[in-house]
Amino acid sequence: MRIPIVAGNWKMNMCSADSVALARSIRQELTDPGGVEVVVCPVSTVLNAVSDALDDSSISVSGQNCYHAENGAFTGELSPQMLHDAGCTWTILGHSERRHIFGETNALLNQKIKFALSSGLNVMFCIGETLEERESGTMNDVLQQQIGEGLAELNENAMEHVVIAYEPVWAIGTGLTATSEQAEEAHAFVRSVVQDKFSGTVAESLRIQYGGSVKPDNTVELMSQPNVDGALVGGASLDAESFVAIVRAAQS
Ligand code: 13P
Repeated sequence: MRIPIVAGNWKMNMCSADSVALARSIRQELTDPGGVEVVVCPVSTVLNAVSDALDDSSISVSGQNCYHAENGAFTGELSPQMLHDAGCTWTILGHSERRHIFGETNALLNQKIKFALSSGLNVMFCIGETLEERESGTMNDVLQQQIGEGLAELNENAMEHVVIAYEPVWAIGTGLTATSEQAEEAHAFVRSVVQDKFSGTVAESLRIQYGGSVKPDNTVELMSQPNVDGALVGGASLDAESFVAIVRAAQS
């Protein structure tokens, strides 16, 4: 039995007042998350404030990215230790915006994932194909390569702290959601790749989130698929009412 996980990726949105207000509203509405693990991913500058606002609640806080060194001459970067210090237990790594806008490669992500895990963070590792890759029939190769290279040299124990977020690039911020059949097909493929790479036990317990225009009204349909174990929500997580509605839909 995999515990569903719903995370709100706030991306580069909101300063401290709005972030804390949103965190408080979510907390107020979700006194009982009903068996769903709930995570919010604010911008770095407000992590401390949001962690304070969610202190002693069941809602976890995540970074959106981090570097693979504890400290040093890496201007502009943040270490897993700094995320811990700011109250985070999670980090996103490999988001398609990091891959496509900032040029992050599978090899770099592998270093980041290994370092974040060895520093005690849980990782939401994002993968997904572009529309061009889907239409040209290379989607499965792309997903397989992202998993193979991104999760290289991880052992089975480390995988207990990894969630994979399948986020088709063409569905992010576009209003285009993968159909539940498309999501299920990709998730089942991802699970089979993880089974081949690690083991049946790892594949069976791995949680795979879907991301890409998740809204309250498409969550039930997506989450009812056997291999969809949660959601990584962008735009709809910036509003307490819609994010809470997505968590409630995931409960059902
Ligand atoms: P949207 O929900 O805005 O499409 O964003 C998805 C996403 O990128 C979550 O990480």
